[in-house]
Parts: sequence; C-alpha cells; structure tokens
Amino acid sequence: MRGLSKAFGGLQAVRAISFDLAAGEILGIIGPNGAGKSTVFSLIAGQERPDAGDIAFEGRAIGGLRAESIARRGLVKTFQTSRPFSSMTFLENVMVGALARRVGLERARAVAMEQLVTVGLADQAHSPAAWASTGQRKRLEIARALATAPRLLLLDEPFGGVDRPSIDALIRLLAGLRSDGMTLLLIEHNLDAVHRLVDRVLAMHLGERIAEGTPQAVTADPRVVQAYLGASEPAHA
Ligand SMILES: Nc1ncnc2c1ncn2[C@@H]1O[C@H](COP(=O)(O)OP(=O)(O)OP(=O)(O)O)[C@@H](O)[C@H]1O
Ligand SMILES: [Mg+2]
Repeated sequence: MRGLSKAFGGLQAVRAISFDLAAGEILGIIGPNGAGKSTVFSLIAGQERPDAGDIAFEGRAIGGLRAESIARRGLVKTFQTSRPFSSMTFLENVMVGALARRVGLERARAVAMEQLVTVGLADQAHSPAAWASTGQRKRLEIARALATAPRLLLLDEPFGGVDRPSIDALIRLLAGLRSDGMTLLLIEHNLDAVHRLVDRVLAMHLGERIAEGTPQAVTADPRVVQAYLGASEPAHA
C-alpha cells in the first residue's frame, strides 16, 4: 500500500501509511488504542474506502473494491470483535466462509469441518455458537476466514482474550499456515506472541507509522515506548 489515508469526520484515523508485504511473510502491526490499526485492515479488506492512496494485491489494484470481491481474490480479514451468528452452530458459522467460495452445501460442510479440526474446535461443531467463549470465538473467526481459502489472512488481535495454553496452540497454528505458504498480517497487543511469530513489525500511533523493523528493534524504539507510555490504556504500556 502507498499513501493510504482515511478520515472519519474531523478525525484523521490513518495518515499516509505505506508498506509492503512479501508472499509468505508474517508482518505484525502494533500501536496503542486508537492508532488506526483496525482502520488500516478495513481499508485493505474493503470494509472502508480509502480517501487517498493505492492498495495492490498480487499485482492488481484492490483499493476501494467491495469486501466480497477482495475476499474472492484470496484476501480476507478477521474482526477484532467477532460476532458469530449465535443462532447457528460452530459448523454452520464456518460454512458461511466456505459458501463465499460459491461451493455447494455438502462441499461447504466438509471444508468447514476440516477448518474446525485445524483450529481445534471439532468437538464443538454442533454446539450453538452462542456458547463460544472469547478464545473459542477467536478460533471460530479464524476457521471461518480459512474456509474462504485465503492466500493473505489479516488477523485483528487474534490473541485477545485467549488463555495461555490456547495462545501456544494458536501460535503453532499460525506458524503452520505460513509454512503452508499463507501470508499473514496481524494486529496484536500481546507483544510476547508478536515476538514469537512475526518477521517484521510496523508500529503506528495517531494514524501514522512511527517505526518499522524487527520486533526487537521496534519495541525498543524510543518513539514506540513513548507512544505506549503516553497512551490512556495502562495495561498496554
Ligand atoms: N467507523 C468509524 N467512525 C468514526 N471513527 C472511527 C471509526 N472507526 C474508527 N474510528 C476512530 O479512528 C481511530 C482509529 O481507530 P482504530 O479502530 O483503527 O484504532 P486501533 O488502532 O485499531 O485501536 P484498538 O487498539 O483500540 O483496536 C479511533 O480514534 C477511532 O475512534
Ligand atoms: Mg483495533
């Protein structure tokens, strides 16, 4: 992406953000609350239209396209706050992702089951999604995204609310996806998970990019430390 900007009324949520992502890479985006991270994701995945800037995926311009058409090109995102269809089962929720590929119902059911196995939720397949814990909702969201067969997966805080043992399992899952050739872009506040998973980190603050580099270099960068210390959320500092 090049020069990506987005304002909401008088608030400049994203200001001239540019970065590249190589195939098979895992890039992390960090930054305090309100930095504009989720907005960058919405711009890439087509939930919001950029005011300015260009986005290309596999050599083709996708800026301003609709989310469904971007998803069909192999780029999909998970939501920071996932809202599964609570009247449907885990399996049916994941089938929604599979059906976005315009496959038949039986094929969608098989793909969905496969992805529930991948994220470790197979035993919940026929439970109502309304019963899902926070950690299960995160994994359900990932399964639904995987069912669309993405080549680039955008994960908005995949470790948020996930308990310690499940974090290790989730790191193994994401590292495995990358080994299978998937490219990952993730927003994360859990810096330990970021250190263990990503190749490169981009730090944002107040809509701008303030640092980029290895996890070690970026988390030690004085501008990044200052951004977190000045942030209103003490837990993140
Ligand atoms: N649809 C919207 N309408 C108005 N303002 C918005 C909208 N979406 C985001 N914002 C504002 O834009 C800014 C950036 O929000 P964004 O959600 O991208 O931040 P973030 O870095 O993801 O924060 P967090 O870590 O809390 O998730 C915030 O000030 C937010 O209130
Ligand atoms: Mg966010």
